[in-house]
Amino acid sequence: MAYGWEGEAVRLVPLERGAHLDNALRWFNDPEITAWLETGDWPLTRGAEEEFFRSTERPDKGSVHFAVETLAGEHVGFSGLRSIDWQSRVAVSGSVIGRADLWGRGLGTDSARVRSRYAFEVLGLRMLIATVIADNARSMGMLTAVGYRQVGRVPGRYWKRGAWRDQAILVLESPAG
Ligand SMILES: CC(C)(COP(=O)(O)OP(=O)(O)OC[C@H]1O[C@@H](n2cnc3c(N)ncnc32)[C@H](O)[C@@H]1OP(=O)(O)O)[C@@H](O)C(=O)NCCC(=O)NCCS
Repeated sequence: MAYGWEGEAVRLVPLERGAHLDNALRWFNDPEITAWLETGDWPLTRGAEEEFFRSTERPDKGSVHFAVETLAGEHVGFSGLRSIDWQSRVAVSGSVIGRADLWGRGLGTDSARVRSRYAFEVLGLRMLIATVIADNARSMGMLTAVGYRQVGRVPGRYWKRGAWRDQAILVLESPAG
């Protein structure tokens, strides 16, 4: 029996406090993991993360949050869609592989592929937007590998880790339109 949305290396599964909350706290408070995240420079408390998990238990159809697990069931990250605009069928995507020791092995790319399939084929969305700190080579590589193309750039959008950084704006369009 399948559980969640499966790719070649990972599965996107619903968030569960018992399985995923401690890792969220660990990863979003780890400066290595958050070095290129648009968020993540403020301490994340257990209470705030519990509240976030609780909010995902009251689905409002405005966002979808998945945990990323390997096919063997090991929790390795998070992947989601937010700001879902049902009128225009557009959403904003975001990813984190929290296990830095597993970076560069294709897990992020596989999770983004599964997410885009889910967004287009299951939810019927038409376009995904990703905004990325342009210096985030891994994220740019992952998104490009999945088919996102850069459509814009905001110079000096972010103050991040001691320097002004550009924001890259990328889009992925559904082949079905
Ligand atoms: C960005 C992230 C999700 C990518 O996941 P990943 O599993 O490491 O990515 P993948 O192994 O699928 O590699 C994706 C691409 O990154 C690039 N890449 C891999 N290793 C790299 C490295 N050491 N330096 C630069 N780019 C690299 C490659 O271009 C690869 O694409 P390819 O398959 O065409 O070669 C993950 O590294 C991460 O969570 N980083 C911290 C949080 C973050 O930056 N999230 C994204 C915010 S927008």
